[in-house]
Amino acid sequence: MARIMLTGGAGFIGSHTAVVLLERGYDIVLLDDFSNAARDVPDRLRQITGIAMPVIEADIRDPEAMRAAFAAFPVDAVVHFAAKKAVGESEADPLLYFDVNILGTIRLLAAMRDAGVGRLVFSSSATVYGEPDTCPISETASLRVTNVYGRTKMVMEGMIEDLSRTGVLAASAILRYFNPVGAHPSGLIGENPRGVPANLMPYLCQVAAGQRPYLTVFGNDYPTHDGTGVRDFIHVMDLAEAHAAAVDRILAQDGGFTVNLGTGTGYSVLDLVHAFKAATGIDVPYQVGPRRPGDVAACYADPGLAASLLGWRASRGVQDMCRDAWRWQSRH
Ligand code: NAD
Ligand code: WQD
Repeated sequence: MARIMLTGGAGFIGSHTAVVLLERGYDIVLLDDFSNAARDVPDRLRQITGIAMPVIEADIRDPEAMRAAFAAFPVDAVVHFAAKKAVGESEADPLLYFDVNILGTIRLLAAMRDAGVGRLVFSSSATVYGEPDTCPISETASLRVTNVYGRTKMVMEGMIEDLSRTGVLAASAILRYFNPVGAHPSGLIGENPRGVPANLMPYLCQVAAGQRPYLTVFGNDYPTHDGTGVRDFIHVMDLAEAHAAAVDRILAQDGGFTVNLGTGTGYSVLDLVHAFKAATGIDVPYQVGPRRPGDVAACYADPGLAASLLGWRASRGVQDMCRDAWRWQSRH
């Protein structure tokens, strides 16, 4: 079976993808600098799967460390998660985001070329669509970034497309995630935000746990069914399964493609609060506050291309997402 390197493999989406790849018989090599991941994630992955994997502590920006990683562990493909991902931080320190995300990806791609590894799955984001003209959003919608983080994703997508077109990469999959939430049903791995969570689900879970008094709903005057923002929340295990399907495909077939990974259904902030109550029995107190600058009213995917190219569709519902996020939060 093929061996796959996961950069950022100890992080939220990387760790869940590691579980699915291991369970499907792939060998994996996990590479992470642990700047945003707990040290015990590899051990938790072993507890879940019964399989131990090589772990390389390295910064993707370090050319010598990357050369050594590929020399020590020859791989057939790379799934590239490692990045910084906080929109607010990216606006406060753009050069940090250019450095980690863009320079880091250049260094990774150069190390892959030098090692003769030409197959890549890349973590992009629906943030590249900015304020969409219509929903559901298809992959042909125009890209309009509205923040530095989104800019880095758009630049990295362009680099990967050029490397595919010029044959430096034999096969590439650019995956645009919508709003990943939830956790592995074991409660052993999940999302681990540092400080005050910027994202809705981790914040909601911390309110449910009594760590924060209430959720602030950022605006209830949007043109949506209840006035609050609508998003395409997707269970991280569905996302992980989509990565496994993308890996299958880039190993089997040359060429490059870009797909949305969402469920295709939008839920509002208040829908999520109600689903959380239905899934866990916990009433999450909330107060309506002003809109958050930069937020769009609604954003959800047309997931049709992923279904036809990858044979993948999300199967878990919003209550599964709430139940699993809460299990992780309450055991963590
Ligand atoms: P995460 O922070 O949990 O995972 C990223 C991992 O990369 C972390 O383990 C971190 O320690 C590691 N890392 C960071 N910089 C590194 C470096 N220089 N060298 C080596 N490792 C490094 O984030 P996540 O939510 O799992 O996101 C994974 C990918 O998906 C990112 O590229 C992110 O931009 C993208 N994405 C995330 C979301 C989301 O809402 N979580 C949505 C769309 C896209
Ligand atoms: C969802 C909805 C908020 C917090 C961000 C990034 C995006 C991607 C995913 C990486 C919105 C509302 C939130 C709160 C609230 N990340 N909200 N109270 O903004 O859709 O996407 O994460 O690629 O790039 O921009 O996700 O979870 O922050 O917000 O009312 O305390 O919840 O206004 O409508 P968002 P989010």
